[in-house]
Amino acid sequence: MTRTLVSGGTLVSTTGATPTDVLIEGETVTALLAPGTGEEFSVDTRIDATGCYVLPGGVDVHTHMQMPFGGTEASDTFATGTRAAAFGGTTTIVDFAVQRTGEVVEESLAAWHAKAEGNCAIDYGFHVILGGVDEDSLKAMDSLVAHEGISSFKLFMAYPGVFHSDDGQILRAMQRATDNGATIMMHAENGTAIDVLVQQALAAGNTDPVFHGLTRPAALEGEAVNRAIALAEVAGDTPLYVVHVSSSPALDRIASARSEGRNVFAETCPQYLYLTLEDHLGAGGPGSFEGAKYACSTPLRSKHEPHARDLWKGLRTDDLAVVSTDHCPFCFNDQKQLGRGDFSRIPNGLGLVEHRMDLVHQGVVDGNLSLQRWVETCSTTPARMFGMYPRKGTVAPGSDADIVIYDPAATTTISAQTHHMNLDHSAFEGVTLQGRVRTVLSRGRTVVDRGTWSGREGHGRYVRRGLSQYLR
Ligand code: URP
Ligand code: ZN
Ligand code: ZN
Ligand code: ZN
Repeated sequence: MTRTLVSGGTLVSTTGATPTDVLIEGETVTALLAPGTGEEFSVDTRIDATGCYVLPGGVDVHTHMQMPFGGTEASDTFATGTRAAAFGGTTTIVDFAVQRTGEVVEESLAAWHAKAEGNCAIDYGFHVILGGVDEDSLKAMDSLVAHEGISSFKLFMAYPGVFHSDDGQILRAMQRATDNGATIMMHAENGTAIDVLVQQALAAGNTDPVFHGLTRPAALEGEAVNRAIALAEVAGDTPLYVVHVSSSPALDRIASARSEGRNVFAETCPQYLYLTLEDHLGAGGPGSFEGAKYACSTPLRSKHEPHARDLWKGLRTDDLAVVSTDHCPFCFNDQKQLGRGDFSRIPNGLGLVEHRMDLVHQGVVDGNLSLQRWVETCSTTPARMFGMYPRKGTVAPGSDADIVIYDPAATTTISAQTHHMNLDHSAFEGVTLQGRVRTVLSRGRTVVDRGTWSGREGHGRYVRRGLSQYLR
């Protein structure tokens, strides 16, 4: 068995940052050693981490690789998307297998396995999007939890006619989840009301990308979060995880449910921490289509309101437990063009799987978050929240040797010219961040070192997940 010693670095965990050497045997961490004491072991490879942080590989629990959506398909395949993730220090993704209305859940899942198997550079798990809640899909939930390693299901209060579930369907799925232990993930936006605003905007000739945001007001995110929390309460305090929280009204309702001791959890994504409706979705001003690059749902919020500041606060207080990316890339030069002249036809989504660790680390540099909380929100909690801990999300004896060696003194400049995602633009083009991923190990194998790829398609394995370990 190959032995690797990572020495000289500072191990960052949820509880501290301590100079520690890490011994890896095969695919597994086998010992944490006092600095320098690893010298007595005969090892095959020594990795010098002097001056660097050593942290558990990032866990991104919200990606959409090659998902059919918005009349096209997300541009990253499992091969390109997982490779890009690894370059950015993420070593596990949980992607959404999609059951479209009318499809058999088990068949949809098998199709998703077929897309991913043999193609992933890092380990991967699946949630399932239920596009149709009925007797069959409810039954399928039980067997997926029991036999397939899938313990979380996403429902949509948005996108009528596509993924939308009505309140009755949501309640039934929640009741089922209360019984089988699964977590319900919710896209919380009032899609029916949004559709009215969209039609009114288009009828008034307001077709620019910025109207994508203006027709999805924060109040309708707050309303939907509130309704989801109430439905989960009625269903027996179902574990509820609100995805891509973007606004203060949504966060307020999550915080108040949590203060009452409810099983309510939430994530945000880097775009909501840094980008705004005016400067990005409204880029170029009236008549410009530039903002299409930034069309995602929930949408970017106004810089004149305290959304981003509140989201950083939520990350500190744990009302927001996780940062994921909602990685759903669409190229500007072809795919996003579908929405020219009609913002409602812009394929929704941003490509960010490569930049999450760096963007949240910048929050540490800026004083918005502690170093420990960076590791917690980007690696440890997502692993615990979705039943993968302690195999993932920690550097400890027995855990998978998914490790990032991170140089806080170096910098990263983001550009479509240099990123590894299959995407012709970047939402953070030209932005320079403090900190840089130096080396990435996936189950003991070096996949990235100083910008050089040594990973392999098919190295990544399917992770069978257990129930959430984050519940009270
Ligand atoms: O704009 C987004 N978020 N696209 C992906 C689908 C979703 O709603 O998560
Ligand atoms: Zn969503
Ligand atoms: Zn999503
Ligand atoms: Zn393209």
